[in-house]
Amino acid sequence: MKSSKKKPYVLIGGALASMIALSAIAQNAGITFRNTITGEVLNFDDALPEGKDTPGVKKFMQTGVNPYNEDVSCLKQGEQLFLSACSGCHGHLGEGKIGPGLNDSYWTYPQNATDEGFFSTIFGGAQASMGPQYANLQLDEMLKVMAWVRHLYKDPVAGATWLTPEQRAKYKPYPGHETFPDDPPGQCKTSGK
Ligand code: HEC
Repeated sequence: MKSSKKKPYVLIGGALASMIALSAIAQNAGITFRNTITGEVLNFDDALPEGKDTPGVKKFMQTGVNPYNEDVSCLKQGEQLFLSACSGCHGHLGEGKIGPGLNDSYWTYPQNATDEGFFSTIFGGAQASMGPQYANLQLDEMLKVMAWVRHLYKDPVAGATWLTPEQRAKYKPYPGHETFPDDPPGQCKTSGK
């Protein structure tokens, strides 16, 4: 009896505590990511548990800047992920197939010109066969795929809004073919130091 009387308080207390915790997380999150089609706030509770809290993901969630852009160790992994998860529909160089081209400055959804919007489209999907990818790719893997797709970009640098000023100065349109050494040094290096 005692416990059944206490229960509502416990429940309300618990609910309040989690609401406060959630709003604290939302405030710290820096950026609110929204579904490309519906505008609904994306729920990262749905993300795969692995690769959810890497330093790269944390930085991206705060700033919207993908720290893996132009890091050769991440590009190599991003290419592999792109070839298994995206190229069947978007083409090997992101030139477009049953899905639109991803390597030029035209976007059906203009927000995909930002990495924040691009990430939201991958996580939450768009229309037709562009389904949400949150059950296929870890959040960290999404950032690697994005770094690779951005690297495939071939149009004028003015459209490459995701690059830092230093990266812009060095920008060259994707030459069409590229190979990387095995496990090159960088943030995404898998072996050794
Ligand atoms: C089964 C086929 C399929 C797969 C796999 C797929 N896509 Fe798509 N994608 C599409 C289609 C079709 C569209 C067009 C949807 C629309 O217009 O709403 C699209 C749209 C997009 C867009 C929006 C482009 C724009 O112009 O605004 C992006 C970005 C995108 N896909 C990225 C990816 C990435 C990255 C992957 C791999 C992680 C991927 N897609 C996997 C079929 C696919």
